[in-house]
Amino acid sequence: MFKIAVLISGGGSNLQAVIDAVEARRLNAEIGLVIADRPAGGLDRAGRHGIPCCLLNRRELGTDLSREILNRIPDDTDLIVLAGYLSILTAEFTSRWEGRIINIHPALLPEFGGKGMYGMRVHEAVLKAGKTVSGCTVHYVDSGVDTGRIIGQSTVEVLPGDSPGDLQERVLEQEHRLLVDSIERIINTISDNRAV
Ligand code: GRF
Repeated sequence: MFKIAVLISGGGSNLQAVIDAVEARRLNAEIGLVIADRPAGGLDRAGRHGIPCCLLNRRELGTDLSREILNRIPDDTDLIVLAGYLSILTAEFTSRWEGRIINIHPALLPEFGGKGMYGMRVHEAVLKAGKTVSGCTVHYVDSGVDTGRIIGQSTVEVLPGDSPGDLQERVLEQEHRLLVDSIERIINTISDNRAV
C-alpha cells in the first residue's frame, strides 16, 4: 500500500482533502503519520480519523525540528506531503527525501513564492500587484523555498473587490482538488514504473 506522511502547521483542510480521498478509495494509499510543528487544528482531524499523529513543537525543538521529524518518518513512507506546513526543512531532510516530498502553495509559482510568502500574505501580494488571475501550485520540494519542479497548477479568477480572504477561500478550494489530483498522478506513475 502506498504510504503517505503529511506535515502540517494549520487547520488541515488540505490534509482533510487527502483523508477524504483515501477513505473514498480515490487514492489507493494510506496516511501513515501526520506531524505538526505547532499545536494545529489538523491534529484533531487526524485523531478523528484514527491516523497516528504527533506534535513536534518548533518552539521547543528549534534547529533540531527537521532532524526530529526525520527520525519519526517511517522508512517505508513513499511520499511526504507538506500541507500548509510552515517551518523550513533542512537540506539534510530535503536531500534524504528528494523526489518523494511535495508541497502545495497558494499561488502560481514562481510568482508570489519564497521566504515569507505564505498564507494570507500571498493573497495580499497578488491583490496588491493587480493580478486578474491567481491559483495554486503543487511542486516537488528541493533545498530552496517554493523552488522545486512544478507538478501541477490550478487557476482562479481574481474578482473586482476581492478581499484577501475572498481570494484565499477560492484558491483553497482549488488546492484541495489539485493536491489530490497530484498525489493520484504520483501514485499512478510509481505503480506504472513498478509494473514494468
Ligand atoms: C492555507 O493558506 C493554504 O493556502 C496553504 O496553507 C494554509 C493552511 O492550509 N497551503 P490548511 O487548511 O492547513 O491545509
